[in-house]
Amino acid sequence: MVNLNLPDNSKIMPGKTHGVEGPDKITFNIYRWNREDNKNPRVDKYFVEKKKLGPMTLDALMFIKNDIDPTLTFRRSCREGICGSCSMNVNGTNTLACLKPIEDKEINIYPLPHMRVLKDLVPDLSEFYEQYKSIEPWLKNSTKAKKEQRQSPAERKKLDGLYECVLCACCSTSCPSYWWNGDKFLGPAILLQAYRFIVDSRDNNKKERLKSLEDKFKLYRCHTIMNCTKTCPKNLNPAKAISEIKKLQVSS
Ligand code: SF4
Ligand code: SF4
Ligand code: FES
Repeated sequence: MVNLNLPDNSKIMPGKTHGVEGPDKITFNIYRWNREDNKNPRVDKYFVEKKKLGPMTLDALMFIKNDIDPTLTFRRSCREGICGSCSMNVNGTNTLACLKPIEDKEINIYPLPHMRVLKDLVPDLSEFYEQYKSIEPWLKNSTKAKKEQRQSPAERKKLDGLYECVLCACCSTSCPSYWWNGDKFLGPAILLQAYRFIVDSRDNNKKERLKSLEDKFKLYRCHTIMNCTKTCPKNLNPAKAISEIKKLQVSS
């Protein structure tokens, strides 16, 4: 993990204003914090003409970075909802900026909540990735198959709604149980991924996988609050995956 100064978010200050208000403009209020300058976090205001922007929130961030303020820092790569790197909180909802249309006159953009901030909109995801590693996210099969491992259409179908997860962490960082116990509770994203390998017919490690999740924190900190499913920008249902793991725990 990176050695961190942490922002004190109870001391967020109004920041710099870029441009002037106007009827044809969108106001972007964007969280800024740089651990190197040791100042309080602030919210900068950017007034941008709507006609200069593409349709999505990420288009606005790119415009601001390229044309107004090159110091603004955020992650992005594919701009197609595939890489999962542009996750952030837009007007109170965790989402992928590249899939979030610009629909309001005023838009507040913050980093994913309850994560350590590295800079501006960039959270530290190292613990999240450690948790991902802990579920051994690869197919484990001790039979030495001479040919490829085939799946029937029905077996393949079980992966629908799971394989599409882009590990953006929007769900985990919207989960109150993960906020308070993120060091011990695996959270909805990682549990959805765990389930994805449990139900894959090409994996024959189901028993061990279920056993490793049999833990009052890792799995059972989920209290079915459903924030995860509400927020997933890929319309997946991590809460259902978690409840399926719980069912398998009692039935196998
Ligand atoms: S389940 Fe959805 S919100 Fe959670 S990490 Fe995967 S894609 Fe992101
Ligand atoms: S359903 Fe479980 S994992 Fe999802 S938000 Fe609620 S407590 Fe968190
Ligand atoms: S830039 Fe890849 S998901 Fe948004």
